[in-house]
Amino acid sequence: MNASLDGRVALVTGAGRGIGRGIALGLAQSGARVGLLARTGHEIDDACAEIHDAGGTAVALAADVSDPEQTRIAVQRLVDEFGHVELLVNNAAVVWPLGPTRDVDPAAVAAAIAINVIGPMTLARRVLPGMLAAGWGRIVNVSAAIAARPGMLAGLNTYAASKGALEAHTLNLAAELEGTGVTANVYRPGTVDTSMQAYIRDQPREQIGAPLHDRFTAMLRSGALITPRASADRMRSPRRAGFGRDLGRQRRRSRAITTDDQPLPTARPAERQRLHARPGALSVRVETARELGGRDALQR
Ligand SMILES: NC(=O)c1ccc[n+]([C@@H]2O[C@H](COP(=O)([O-])OP(=O)(O)OC[C@H]3O[C@@H](n4cnc5c(N)ncnc54)[C@H](OP(=O)(O)O)[C@@H]3O)[C@@H](O)[C@H]2O)c1
Repeated sequence: MNASLDGRVALVTGAGRGIGRGIALGLAQSGARVGLLARTGHEIDDACAEIHDAGGTAVALAADVSDPEQTRIAVQRLVDEFGHVELLVNNAAVVWPLGPTRDVDPAAVAAAIAINVIGPMTLARRVLPGMLAAGWGRIVNVSAAIAARPGMLAGLNTYAASKGALEAHTLNLAAELEGTGVTANVYRPGTVDTSMQAYIRDQPREQIGAPLHDRFTAMLRSGALITPRASADRMRSPRRAGFGRDLGRQRRRSRAITTDDQPLPTARPAERQRLHARPGALSVRVETARELGGRDALQR
């Protein structure tokens, strides 16, 4: 077992399946003690069993990230079992409601924002006191390429708005945490073969719009989707989210990390030097797959 995260306490939301499950399994393999949070009990129980079978430590925390009382109880249980949370991965999200904005149910929009934006903000607030007291912590918010190019896919209006808000929150939080030993990062996982993608393909084409439906169907057919574990492993590499080998160092800078070539709108490469040059400017480094030359960050 890679000892780089030995004994660290991690909380991963949306850990029952897809990318979040891959992240949770990977963190456990690296020695972290992991709290797996999602609503579907049997999925997080199954992921926990997989971790236990591999000799790792994990606890299943059934909760809805949009319910503050449920997340309070879940975090308290994790703290009681393992100690204060040192790594938080806000991965849980929904892609609905889909289709033309004129047709979407406002209640569904509010529910999606509560899951994709308010949930991660609430969880950050719950774990920050412990991280700040310890002078070390890692928060990674899982976003999507659509935050960089909000107009890239019509029919995903709520999702685009939610990921844009999540990234703005993360960048502002990173600025707030500068110099504390706690970092906040964004991770855009690329196009990944999960139930979120299947959900879009399963919707009636005429209801969500042909271009959106055709795009996601074509992505599957063309073999463009990567596996959840491949995306999860990229996120955990030391040069990306600040997890891993260099754990002992207190990174003062947060990074906006992508597996694609889409920089964050707030810190395009052209702006980067200017941002870094100005004292007190937001220290966000954009690292794209192109800059990495297609190599895994671990190989650099
Ligand atoms: N797949 C892609 O191509 C892709 C691309 C870009 C970004 N992303 C992002 O990657 C992340 C993971 O996506 P995925 O594709 O792995 O999705 P997924 O397969 O649909 O899994 C989503 C996970 O989030 C959990 N979840 C959803 N709503 C929740 C809630 N209210 N409370 C607690 N947990 C909740 C789900 O469990 P329950 O339903 O049991 O709660 C599940 O474990 C998301 O942030 C997504 O936006 C995905």
